[in-house]
Amino acid sequence: MESSPQNVLPLLLISSFILAMVSPSLSCATYCEAKIDETWYLRQVGSGPNQNQVIVVNSTAPATTSFGMIAVNNWAVLVAPDPNAVVVAHARGLHVQAGQAGTASWYTTFSLVFEGPRFNGSTLHATGITGFEGQWVVGGGTGELASAHGVIKHKILTGLGSAVENYRQLDIQAFYSLHPANG
Ligand SMILES: *[C@@H]1O[C@H](CO)[C@@H](O)[C@H](O)[C@H]1NC(C)=O
Ligand SMILES: *[C@@H]1O[C@H](CO)[C@@H](O)[C@H](O)[C@H]1NC(C)=O
Repeated sequence: MESSPQNVLPLLLISSFILAMVSPSLSCATYCEAKIDETWYLRQVGSGPNQNQVIVVNSTAPATTSFGMIAVNNWAVLVAPDPNAVVVAHARGLHVQAGQAGTASWYTTFSLVFEGPRFNGSTLHATGITGFEGQWVVGGGTGELASAHGVIKHKILTGLGSAVENYRQLDIQAFYSLHPANG
């Protein structure tokens, strides 16, 4: 039985997928992905000498909700939940109180800007809701992390930090494209 054109295309895609699994070097002539799979720690400091977030718009809603408040953040991302740990990146962006029934509904959008020997200058774009724990979507990236997609699970570590500071564990799992043509 002859293959109709509709059947040929899926077959081609399947065979290049199999090639991709067997030999990355072959598949990278077209498209190939690598994975970033890391556990890091985000340090959030609300005031004091190490403050790394500032309110830029105050809420006019009751203080119990803070609905509408907007803050800018330059949170450090560290290899351990310790102020002296190596910094791998900064999470630069905004968080907005977008819930009206409490304080656990901040909408966050930021660029995770890498520094140091690994991914230096590359970015991941992350966005999502920031309660005590949750997930942010990784919806893109630049540089070495171009076309990134994945999820960052995040959770505040209890018993660390202080009234104005906390550490949030980040479990980052994302894929990004390898660019043989661009090095
Ligand atoms: C927000 O309100 C606080 C507390 O009243 C005040 O200290 C701060 O200056 C205000 N910030 C802005 C950007 O309005
Ligand atoms: C990272 O990139 C910046 C800007 O290009 C450069 O100044 C710095 O030396 C680089 N750091 C490392 C560890 O490569």
